[in-house]
Amino acid sequence: MTGKNWKSAITGHFEGIPYVRGYKLTEMLAKLSFTQAIFLVLKGELPNEKEAAVLNAILIASIDHGVEAPSTTVARITASCGVPLSTAVATGVAAIGDSHGGAIEEAAKIFQEIVEKGKSPTEIVEKARFKSERIPGFGHKIYDTDPRTLALIEVAEKNGLKGKYIEIALEIERELEKAVGKKLCLNIDGITAAIISEMGFDWKLGKGFFIIGRIAGLVAHVYEEQTREKPVRRISEDDVAYDGPKPRQLPK
Ligand SMILES: CC(C)(COP(=O)(O)OP(=O)(O)OC[C@H]1O[C@@H](n2cnc3c(N)ncnc32)[C@H](O)[C@@H]1OP(=O)(O)O)[C@@H](O)C(=O)NCCC(=O)NCCS
Repeated sequence: MTGKNWKSAITGHFEGIPYVRGYKLTEMLAKLSFTQAIFLVLKGELPNEKEAAVLNAILIASIDHGVEAPSTTVARITASCGVPLSTAVATGVAAIGDSHGGAIEEAAKIFQEIVEKGKSPTEIVEKARFKSERIPGFGHKIYDTDPRTLALIEVAEKNGLKGKYIEIALEIERELEKAVGKKLCLNIDGITAAIISEMGFDWKLGKGFFIIGRIAGLVAHVYEEQTREKPVRRISEDDVAYDGPKPRQLPK
């Protein structure tokens, strides 16, 4: 018992110097890339060269996907209302949920359970279809094939990290197409989930990878909105259909 209310295995101070996961922060900043430091802080150990290259690719893949991506639209609309940068970026992060950027977590959980509990991809697809549920990490609003997925698979393969989790993800993609009759591509969340599983990360960290990558893009968008655009964005009235009650009198 330390007698203290807070404990952490991430950062500590020794003789006035901050250490992260046991390494001097003042040495890390001179010798490590940001990606290596992210791997270290999340996993507790430094990545090897190949893991660092693959994590770097995942983070870049998530950095931005246009003004129309929900997290970015929300952040820019909020920024246009005159709030500080931190508030606008935070609202963008808050929009990251199970259907946008946040499917990594649940997808990684499924892939890791398939391996740990000896389940089969076919069983996962059949169960989801039976319950009319969507399998996280598959399908996309605009892509039949997600170009980011193909590029990430290539980077993973080049770095010796295309293993059983990516195979499972691709098998689910094939089984889903058979079951639904339409290609529901392994999307950016799904491939990120498979790759973080290849690197031994807990599925509970899933959303974190997307958040870390996307925050850089959100900061750029919020800054652009604040410095280039007129205040107060509104969605177009042409995009809104009213389907409530017709005009009526309040009761007397
Ligand atoms: C991304 C997503 C919201 C796109 O949805 P969408 O544009 O409405 O999808 P589609 O119109 O192509 O869906 C066609 C059919 O496939 C089904 N479908 C779509 N994604 C599915 C999935 N992941 N698993 C199982 N079935 C799925 C839909 O239910 C629909 O079937 P229905 O016509 O019987 O209702 C959707 O695929 C989804 O919810 N995916 C899971 C969450 C996810 O991975 N999000 C991250 C996106 S980067």
